[in-house]
Amino acid sequence: MKRIKFIAGNWKLWGTLSQAKDLAKALAPALSKAPYRYLVAPPYTALAAVKEVLQGTKVLLGAQDCSALESGARTGEVSVLMLKELGVDAIILGHSERRQFHGETDQLVNEKIKLALKHGFEVIYCNGETLAEREAGQAAAVVVRQTKEALKDISEADLSKVTIAYEPVWAIGTGKTATPRDANEIHAVIRKTIADIYSKQAADAMIIQYGGSVKPDNVRELMAMPDIDGALVGGASLKSETFLPICLFDQ
Ligand code: PGA
Repeated sequence: MKRIKFIAGNWKLWGTLSQAKDLAKALAPALSKAPYRYLVAPPYTALAAVKEVLQGTKVLLGAQDCSALESGARTGEVSVLMLKELGVDAIILGHSERRQFHGETDQLVNEKIKLALKHGFEVIYCNGETLAEREAGQAAAVVVRQTKEALKDISEADLSKVTIAYEPVWAIGTGKTATPRDANEIHAVIRKTIADIYSKQAADAMIIQYGGSVKPDNVRELMAMPDIDGALVGGASLKSETFLPICLFDQ
């Protein structure tokens, strides 16, 4: 089965409204004839403005998180209903920074994924092991556990709206990338987990992005691996000079 590559930029806590608009303006025309699927996830405050810039282009709009509740007394949180109204296409969930700095558990991530799918969003679900877990030989076991927990009670039909991003925590923002071979090994483990929980067909169709210090000079060899179907890019997605060569890695 031919899987279409999917490259996403996660802008995290960077960029003011005007910087976000400028970046989107630089990306949108350059990606209009590009061959793959693309997404940018600006901070919440820039979603509406970036949506306007992306209108009519093929670049999808992503949010970096959402509340596990549709509404309620949750100061500072943002609901799927609010994101929907802004025209957000997809929500990144379970990012390791949410787990590390905001105490998110696999169970909470599962609740958020179910809520996002219920409201018709695509989801980019992130998992990955810490350095200690990798050094203890636990990398594969950790991502299998995370994947099973995150996808609990999600139907195979809904799964088609989920992309998985494998992001080894030790490779995020550190300049250290997993070797293409090491990354591919875990991607294959994730794909097998999908086959075990769902079906071979679901596993074959699953888009599994790699994330963690993806740069213009390492993207090509990562994308050449059979189980790597795209990238979730942090630091290098903040400038068109580095994000475009990643998006257009084989052009
Ligand atoms: P990085 O971040 O590319 O800066 O390592 C990746 C991510 O956290 O999604």
